[in-house]
Amino acid sequence: MIKVYLRKMRKIPDLCAVAALFLATPVFAAGGGADLESSGIDPDNINSLQRGAANFMNYCSGCHSAQYVRYNTIGKDLDLSDEQLVDNLMFNAEKTFETIQAAMPAVDAARWYGKAPPDLSLMARSKGSDYIYNFLKSFYVSAGSPTGVDNAVLEGTSMPHVLWELQGYQVAHYVDQTNDDGSVSRAFEGFEQIIPGSLDSEDYDDFVRDTVNFLAYIAEPIRSDRRKLGVWVLMFLIFFYVIARMLKKQIWKDVK
Ligand code: HEC
Repeated sequence: MIKVYLRKMRKIPDLCAVAALFLATPVFAAGGGADLESSGIDPDNINSLQRGAANFMNYCSGCHSAQYVRYNTIGKDLDLSDEQLVDNLMFNAEKTFETIQAAMPAVDAARWYGKAPPDLSLMARSKGSDYIYNFLKSFYVSAGSPTGVDNAVLEGTSMPHVLWELQGYQVAHYVDQTNDDGSVSRAFEGFEQIIPGSLDSEDYDDFVRDTVNFLAYIAEPIRSDRRKLGVWVLMFLIFFYVIARMLKKQIWKDVK
């Protein structure tokens, strides 16, 4: 009887190891198309997040809200004082506890653009940061479109190319390809810059990366806290594993 019990006990450290493995397995977020360029964002880079916040307020908040985000939370997480918040980010809010509202009422925006600009609080989680990064880099000149541009990532989009001054304008090249069933479809080949913007392509990528970094942060503000907590959990598991092994040794010492 006691032997059976002890044999079971012997398995405990192994079970702990297996449990540790399961807990440590990272959970991968869904989404992201196959050939999207990686956004390369760094959620721990506070400077990038601060620049991204300014980019967002200057170039996106005219149309898009981020209604689950309060200015004072951003201030706390991104090391910004109340003065810095008011001077640099709060263009259409009075109090730091307010959430980010779009300057343009959604009803008007829907009338002008045909589609209301979506709230961006959780966009990085629903579509993925790589998606937004590629979306912001893929506007191209299209004569047939009411906004003068189309987007290679979201064909037929009603969002104008709001960053044209920075990126300039590009055209998209497509080639016709014959599919297995004989039908012909167009395949995207690449962009060609036709009008330069105020930023060169590397600086534009950095601008977009900072903006997407900020959107990823607002989609999950506790991400960095959670990661810090994760380190503690792993350390505890390792510690517990050592204790369990020592306990096993202690118990088996007298049995053999
Ligand atoms: C002039 C108004 C306007 C501004 C400014 C603007 N957008 Fe948009 N945005 C729109 C509209 C309209 C849509 C809806 C487009 C659609 O679904 O076709 C949209 C859609 C989006 C989407 C969702 C795309 C999808 O796949 O559904 C993202 C992401 C986005 N915008 C990001 C941004 C970012 C980041 C900025 C700032 C750099 C920005 N937008 C600035 C009007 C705007």
